Amino acid sequence: RTPPADLVRSVIRALQGPGREENSESQIYTFMPAAGGVGTTTLALQTAFQLHHSVTRGASTCVVDLNFQQGACAEYLDLEPRFDITEIENQPERLDRQLLDVMLSKHASGLCVLAAPTRPSEMRSFKTDVVVRMLDLVSAYFDNVVIDMPRTWFPWTETVLLGSNKLYIVAEMTVPCLRHTQRLIQAIYETAGKEVKPNVIVNRFEQKMFDSGIKQADVQDILGEHFVGGISNNYRLVREAVDRGVPLHDIDPNANVVNDLKKIILPEEAVATTAKSKSLFGLGRGLLKRKAG
Ligand SMILES: Nc1ncnc2c1ncn2[C@@H]1O[C@H](COP(=O)(O)OP(=O)(O)O)[C@@H](O)[C@H]1O
Ligand SMILES: [Mg+2]
Repeated sequence: RTPPADLVRSVIRALQGPGREENSESQIYTFMPAAGGVGTTTLALQTAFQLHHSVTRGASTCVVDLNFQQGACAEYLDLEPRFDITEIENQPERLDRQLLDVMLSKHASGLCVLAAPTRPSEMRSFKTDVVVRMLDLVSAYFDNVVIDMPRTWFPWTETVLLGSNKLYIVAEMTVPCLRHTQRLIQAIYETAGKEVKPNVIVNRFEQKMFDSGIKQADVQDILGEHFVGGISNNYRLVREAVDRGVPLHDIDPNANVVNDLKKIILPEEAVATTAKSKSLFGLGRGLLKRKAG
């Protein structure tokens, strides 16, 4: 039933055409939720912004929202979703550069988003070849592709996992969610083999849980080397960002969520920023404040 991993890889490579591998290959970052409402879309979008503004990872970045039924990427950025599935679902080869350009939504920052309008009452899915075509085309034109995955496992899920360079599972700090994360890791290994390593980000991470809650040591026990970092809980920041349709760093460039994520996604730049903000920016801001006051 499911095609072997090697076959899928070679199909993707063949579709990418000759010469693709010599060029600086685009990097695909895939975000998968371990439960509902854990912050997958929030972290995928913020990752996309950080890559888009990155000085080390190439500039152009596109977000692909694979939540066809209830995607939120466009909404969170206050953009109009323009990806029209019906136009290509029966002939995915029709999707070419020109059509892609028409179907992309563009954020003021330059970040691009490929997202379909949400139709709450419609049960929609893509065929695998449509998803492959989409991702192939997007990765041909962008340095970085960030995929926001749905919770449901579709027939094309395996293909997307196999095509990913980095895979992040977003979890929260509850026992059921961490257990489900373990099962998800297992399922990923069973379907995609050892080619993609699932990295787990624990969102709304609490350093010190009073009473009997989950602690950092428990997270490490349960997830082992898959755990790559926690993201601070900062509802005010995240809410203000989505209500205004802007990235988190527009609200506060030094916000905990921004820095926590950067340490995971762009560790080489996170170190530099922290050092700089302590020595230069910190001082500068202190002086400004004193002047203003
Ligand atoms: N680090 C965080 N701190 C506080 N609230 C958060 C954080 N990350 C996400 N949220 C909030 O959690 C809710 C779900 O986020 P969302 O990104 O839509 O999750 P998902 O895509 O997994 O369903 C939203 O209300 C969002 O503002
Ligand atoms: Mg979401």
